[in-house]
Order: sequence, then C-alpha cells, then structure tokens
Amino acid sequence: MKAVILAAGMGTRLYPVTQVIPKPLLPLANRPTLDYAFDRLKEIGVQDVCVVVGGNEAAMRDALGDKTGNGLTVAYARQPEAKGLAHAMSFAKDLVGTDDFCMYLGDAVYSESLTGAAERFRSSGCANLNLVKAVPDPSRFGVANVDGDRIVRLVEKPKVPESNLAMAGVYFFRQPIWDMLEDLQPSARGEYEITDAIQMLVDRGHDVRAGVYTGEWFDTGTLDSFLETSAFLIGGGTLIHPESDVDAEIGQNVVIGPGCKVRATRIENAVVLPGATVESDGAIHRSLIGGNASATEFVSTIAMGSDSRRVD
Ligand code: G1P
Repeated sequence: MKAVILAAGMGTRLYPVTQVIPKPLLPLANRPTLDYAFDRLKEIGVQDVCVVVGGNEAAMRDALGDKTGNGLTVAYARQPEAKGLAHAMSFAKDLVGTDDFCMYLGDAVYSESLTGAAERFRSSGCANLNLVKAVPDPSRFGVANVDGDRIVRLVEKPKVPESNLAMAGVYFFRQPIWDMLEDLQPSARGEYEITDAIQMLVDRGHDVRAGVYTGEWFDTGTLDSFLETSAFLIGGGTLIHPESDVDAEIGQNVVIGPGCKVRATRIENAVVLPGATVESDGAIHRSLIGGNASATEFVSTIAMGSDSRRVD
C-alpha cells in the first residue's frame, strides 16, 4: 500500500510562523509535524509516500528530500491552486498508479497506531474505508451515517449532524475512487470535496466502510490545537532542549528547541522554535515564537522575528 499525504495548505491560521516554515514541517516536541505521519504510515506497511505540495514545494522538497528518517521513499505532486481535498488528491494519481493507498491529512497527529483500520481495509476488500471518531462537535467535520460498519451517507459539516462520527483524516482507497474524481463537481463553497467523492462511491454501489478510531486525534492548524498537540506529545510537562539558554521561570507545557535563547519573567503554554531568540521583560504565555523576537510580553501571540500576530 502507498500513501498520499495532503500537505499543500498555507497554514494561514498560524501566520506569520507558517510564512517562513511550512505547517507540515513545524516542529512539534522538536520533531517536524510530518515525522509523526511517517511513523504511523510505516507501522501499517507503507513504503512509498507521495506528498502533495503547493506554494510550499521548494521548502518541502528541501527539508524532506527523497527519503524520510524512518526509511520511506518520498515523491512529490503539486496542486497548483487550493480547490479542496479531492482536487489535491487527484494530482497524486500517476504516482499511486494501480496500488491501494492511504490518504492522510498532513496536519493530523494520532496517538495510537492505525493498524486496526488498515487491517480491516485489507481483509474486507472494500473500495474505501475511512477512519471515523466519535466527537462532541461533529458539525465541524465531515459526518458519517453508518449501518454497522457500512457508511450509508456522508455530509460535510452538517448544521444538524445525524451522527457523532467525524471523518478523522485518514482514508484508505482502492482504484474505484479515481473514476469518481472524473465526475466530481465543486461544492457550494467551490471545492472538490473528498466527502462528495466518497458519497459517489456509496451511491454507485461500492462497499464503503468506517473504522472507528479510539485513540486521540489532533489537528495542528490553530494556535490552541498546536499547543494542545504539543502538550500531549510532551506529557503536559516541559521539553527544554539541553542546547538552549533559558532565563525564566518555567511553567507547564513549554517546548524550547535547540539553539534557543529565551529571556522572560515566566514562560508557560508556549513553543519556542529551534534557533529562536526571544527577549521579553514580561511573561510568555499561549504563544508560538520563532526567529529573533522581542516584545514586552508575548501573550496569545504567534511571532516570527519582528512579525507578530495576537490571536484571541
Ligand atoms: C476536512 C474534511 C472533513 C474532515 C476534516 C478532518 O475538513 O473535509 O470531512 O472531517 O478535514 O480534519 P477541513 O478541516 O479541511 O475543513
């Protein structure tokens, strides 16, 4: 089985940091976000990964090269403009060829392996199996209506969800999905939705299933979700790289990368990216900081050098 990782997004909610470091490469607990994806994919027997990139292509190729640290082979496809997940996936078609594949959203982090879902996909022979997770707020996601483990209907971000099973960012496909993409039309928001492509599989009589995931599932696209994922990965405590120079009282959920210099009265719930220098006379709290940044305090701030944005 191959894998397609969708990593073309601009990461606008984490500007200005993601104007310098593509979101899929942002260090989480001092490892690039995509490393966690590579680990999960290797566990399910993937050897070849196609990363779909966009405007971040040069930085992504530079950082990842053609082999991951854990030995996966990396190839690239470029999505020229952002027109939805199904649109992004379509550019990986030639690289995937006739193989089965796992599509993985590049900003997702999973606490447990995906082997249960992968095995169910393999043994069932179904056209498609999607990871789903029971969530308290399904209307933020694609929502699956199921009969046993069969998906009978999918709705993207429904106002009134008919189930609490969110589409959780990992999709296993066999060949029929490519035919659906040929006929897919843009949704009301002008995007080619993967949810609509999967609904077409259902409507045309293909075997489409859900695999319930019981581990933790994080997306890393906002300041709060990034800090929450970071806290989970470091077990809520602190991860201060030994090759860093910190003069501040250190609270919970703090990651400071290698080569950092940090001056503040107190730092908590914050990530300082590798190589950053942060000067402050006050507190650093609920912040993500890179480059050479200085301010009286950093509270609810995303900063990269002299550029910073307050996030409420
Ligand atoms: C996308 C999918 C949605 C899925 C979600 C998972 O939504 O369209 O079905 O539940 O990813 O993160 P987006 O987050 O791009 O709005």
